[in-house]
Parts: sequence; C-alpha cells; structure tokens
Amino acid sequence: MYFMFYNLIFLINIGYYLIDAEKMEPSIVIIGAGLSGFSAAARLIENNFTNLIVLEAEDRIGGRVHSVKYFEGNFIDNGAQWIHGEKDNIIYQIAHKYFDFGSTAFDQVDQTFLLSNGSKPDQNTCRKVLEIAYKILEDDDDEMEDYEGSLGSFMLKKIYEKLNEPQYKKINRQLIPVILNSIESDINGYYGSKSWFNISAKLDAKYDEAKGNQHLTWKKKGFITVFDFITKKAFGKSNYLDIQNKVQLNKKVVNIKYDSNEVMITTSDGTKYFANHVIFTASLGVLKKYHRSLFNPNLPQYKITAIEKNAFGAVGKFFIEFEKPFWSLDRDSFVAYSFLWNEAEKKEAIRDNREWLFSISGFFIVDQYPNLLEAFLGGEKIDEFEKISNEKLIDDCVWMFEKFLGNSIAKPKLIQRTKWLNNENFLGTYSYVSVDAYKFNVGPKDLAKTLKNSDDKPIVLFAGEATDLKFPSYAHGAVTSGYRAAHEIIDYYIEDD
Ligand SMILES: Cc1cc2nc3c(=O)[nH]c(=O)nc-3n(C[C@H](O)[C@H](O)[C@H](O)COP(=O)(O)OP(=O)(O)OC[C@H]3O[C@@H](n4cnc5c(N)ncnc54)[C@H](O)[C@@H]3O)c2cc1C
Ligand SMILES: *[C@@H]1O[C@H](CO)[C@@H](O)[C@H](O)[C@H]1NC(C)=O
Ligand SMILES: *[C@@H]1O[C@H](CO)[C@@H](O)[C@H](O)[C@H]1NC(C)=O
Ligand SMILES: *[C@@H]1O[C@H](CO)[C@@H](O)[C@H](O)[C@H]1NC(C)=O
Repeated sequence: MYFMFYNLIFLINIGYYLIDAEKMEPSIVIIGAGLSGFSAAARLIENNFTNLIVLEAEDRIGGRVHSVKYFEGNFIDNGAQWIHGEKDNIIYQIAHKYFDFGSTAFDQVDQTFLLSNGSKPDQNTCRKVLEIAYKILEDDDDEMEDYEGSLGSFMLKKIYEKLNEPQYKKINRQLIPVILNSIESDINGYYGSKSWFNISAKLDAKYDEAKGNQHLTWKKKGFITVFDFITKKAFGKSNYLDIQNKVQLNKKVVNIKYDSNEVMITTSDGTKYFANHVIFTASLGVLKKYHRSLFNPNLPQYKITAIEKNAFGAVGKFFIEFEKPFWSLDRDSFVAYSFLWNEAEKKEAIRDNREWLFSISGFFIVDQYPNLLEAFLGGEKIDEFEKISNEKLIDDCVWMFEKFLGNSIAKPKLIQRTKWLNNENFLGTYSYVSVDAYKFNVGPKDLAKTLKNSDDKPIVLFAGEATDLKFPSYAHGAVTSGYRAAHEIIDYYIEDD
C-alpha cells in the first residue's frame, strides 16, 4: 500500500521525496556522508545520476574521518590519520601528484621501551623481540594462511620457536613475557581487537596491505582533505562535484522499508523518503546493534550471520600537549614510548582504579607537531577509557609517566580524545578479521552483497569499509566500496538500455 505513490512527481514541499517515473531518472538515497557515501555520490553524479540525497545522522560530514581544529587552521585527526600504503591505494593514487604528503616516519621497532618500575630495560633485547614479531607478521604469510587458529596463538608459537634458535640464546628471558604483552597491545591497537586471540591468522594472511609508506599524513590539513579529492574540488571549479548540496545533516535513518521495486526511508524526525535505490553505508557496529529495527523486512539470514560473525573493533586515541618536550626531537632516536608493565605496578594500578592505562599501546610523536604526543589504545578497556573524565585521564597519565620514567613531569594539556565506541552512529572504529568470521565462513563479500529483485534490479546496496573485498577497515577500502556500489546502479541502467 505504501507504494501507491509510485507515479507521483516530486512532492518535496511536504517533505517527501518521490520517484519521478515520468523522467525515468532513478532516485537514490545514500545513508551516511562518510568516505564511502561521498565516493558513491561522486561516481553517480559523474555519470549523470543526479537525483540523489545523502542522509547523515551527525551534524557534520566525514564520518570516521574527523579532523578537528587544533589551532589557527591546523588540524589533528580523531579518526583516520594515515594513508596506509601507496601502490593500489586509491587515495594515494588520486592525490599524490597534487598533495605533498608528510610522514610520521615511525616503524614499530624504533620504540623506546620503559619499565613500570622506572628502570630502563635493555633496549636491544626489547627491539630484538619486537623485530622477530614483526618479521613473522611480514614474512610468514604462507604458513599463516594454513594456520587454523588465532593470530595470537600463531605469534606465540612462532616467537618462541625463533627464540629457541641458537642466535637468540643470549636474549634475557625475564623480560620476554612483558614484551609479549606490549606486542599484543600494539596489535590490538592496530586491529581494534579485544585480544589477539580474536584475530584469525588465516584471514589476516589473506589480505595484503597496500605496499609502500604506511604512515603518510595530510600534514596540518588533516585527513578531511581527502574529501576535496573525492569531490574533485582540488582540481578546480569546473570539475567540482557538488555533493555537499545533496547532503542533509542531522537526519538519522531509523527504518528502511523495501520491496521489489522501491524503498521508503524514515528518519528519526518522521520524514519519509521514497527512492528506487538505497545505498547503506553506516558502520558494521551500527548494523550489529540495529539491523533488526532498521530493515523491514528483516535482512536475509546469510547477511544477518555475516553481520553477527564479522568483527567490528574499537581503538582509542588521545593527544596531549607538553609545554616542553622531554623526549628527543631527533626522529632517528625517538618515535614512541612503549610501556612494559611489571606485576607490582599492575596491581597498584588496579588498586587505584587506573586499569584503563593497560590499554595504551604507546605514546607516539605526531607529524608536524613537536609538542604533542599521541596515545594509541587497543584491547579490552576502550569503554572505560571513553567514560573517564578529562581530569582523571590526565592525572592517570602523569602517574604512569612518572612511574615509567622514574622522575616527575610537568602536567600536560589534553587536546583531543576519541569516543567512537559510545557514539551511536559508529559503535566502534573499524572491522577486523576474526576467528568467528573464519569459522562461519563469512566476510566482506556477504556484507557487500546487494539485495536485488527478481529482475536483477539492485534495490538495497551496502557500501562502507567493512564491505570492501580488498582493503576492509581502511579509508581507501571505504572509497573503493562506494565506487563499487555506485557502479552496480550505473551498470544496471546501462545494461538495460
Ligand atoms: C580512530 C580511527 C582511526 C583510523 N585510522 C585510519 C588510518 O590511519 N588510515 C586508514 O586508512 N583508515 C583509518 N581508519 C578507518 C577509516 O576511518 C574508515 O575505514 C573510513 O573512514 C570508513 O568510512 P565509511 O564510509 O565506511 O564509514 P563512516 O565514515 O562511518 O560513514 C558512515 C556514516 O554514516 C552515518 N550514520 C550512521 N548511522 C546512521 C543512520 N542511522 N542514519 C544516517 N546516517 C548514519 C555516520 O554518522 C557516518 O558519517 C580509522 C578509523 C578510526 C575510527
Ligand atoms: C552527462 O550529461 C551531459 C549533458 O547531457 C553529457 O554531455 C555527458 O556526456 C553525460 N555523461 C555521461 C557519463 O553520461
Ligand atoms: C625492574 O623490573 C625489571 C623487570 O622485571 C627487573 O629486572 C629490575 O630488576 C627491576 N628494577 C628495580 C630497580 O626494581
Ligand atoms: C574473543 O574471544 C573470546 C574468548 O574466546 C570470546 O569469548 C569472544 O566472544 C571473542 N570476541 C570476539 C569479538 O570475537
């Protein structure tokens, strides 16, 4: 009964957006003004599919790309921060001829290790173990691809095998367990997993990263600059694709009713939108929590299984500013602090309610900003981290620095912190390859699969980082997923002609 509106034309004045059957121009609603939504819109507009609207729940565009002002037009990133890789990275490919990227220039092995009792651990020992770990991650893909268990158990097995080789006999065994904790913490901070026993070794080996520099930055302009390339604004006025004009902010979609011909989308303020096609780009976290209330009828079982079994992780970040850096500004000698916790100080932290500190995988230098350190967090305590007050966050950090450095430090200023896990429009940070996804044989392809009618017409399409077949979790994966969804619609009409 809802689709009796089919032959009406544009009743936009009563807030409805109706299908224009006369003009035969298909109408498209894109849910989400993040990278994948913008990329889909760009590709559609370029192909003259201009009858579209982008609905965004937040009061800003960008989604998980969120550059925030630090001072005088300089930005830091609460969301995506680095362009990971050059070859096959669509963001690098589009922009590198026109933008002079910065680089954070760190690789994990160059960390400065500190012990919680304030004594300096032997740096060579720590770096050797770390080097062994990263070599396994990089070089043992074939063996990993045959391994049924978790990345954690694979890493432990391989690291101990290596340490038993004669050339490593001299390594001090006492430190190894605490170094392994720190390596797991790095890995959780990278994947967003709660534990490295949740990551599937086999699936991880299947995905290659884009080759090249893994830590290119947009310097002080922030990652949001990528949108100037998606909209072609960076290439001048005549090329500009005006997507902004199609975006409606503060429009939270609460229901998507679909049948074999069209969709009716309802936002939380009661507005209804009718369209021929919808591209859904909200995060896997949003899907996990809300897919049953969002879709009417319910999604097919294969998709529900994929939503439930693919993992959506959470990391945290915060930036603190020191009046005067107490670390070396020479990048060859300092890129990051890594914390090794002894049991005694761990107990003390637990006693004093500072357990969230265990989730800090390290403090890193920030490209372009010598007075800043950036903490990266992974593991089980992200929820706790997001809920503590700013004052406690700083107090606990000072407590930790003083323990680990063995001297007092001046109180830093909190500049930014993230709260992605508790934001209802994200509910985490990005997807990762889980043991469950392997067990249930689900992956991005199931999340990406379009709901079509019996004439093969795409009705409900899915884009977003977690749906990308090649680079899930990454910003460049989000872009290609948006292009893919747009092309499914474009190809349907082109083939029909
Ligand atoms: C802390 C953090 C660090 C990261 N670091 C990097 C990095 O260094 N390099 C890298 O390549 N990638 C990084 N990523 C990943 C990258 O940011 C994402 O892969 C990418 O931005 C995802 O884009 P998307 O379009 O898939 O999703 P999103 O950006 O989440 O876009 C979806 C949009 O949908 C909106 N939405 C949600 N629910 C609704 C609703 N009901 N109605 C309407 N709108 C809704 C959301 O508000 C959002 O704007 C990072 C992500 C985070 C969070
Ligand atoms: C879009 O429409 C314009 C104007 O009608 C036309 O010149 C152009 O070739 C079309 N582009 C595509 C990709 O169809
Ligand atoms: C600090 O901890 C390390 C590792 O447990 C230990 O080897 C060292 O002796 C301790 N130093 C002091 C001063 O307690
Ligand atoms: C992680 O592993 C634990 C222990 O096996 C399990 O209980 C939990 O459900 C897993 N979490 C995810 C997200 O896979």
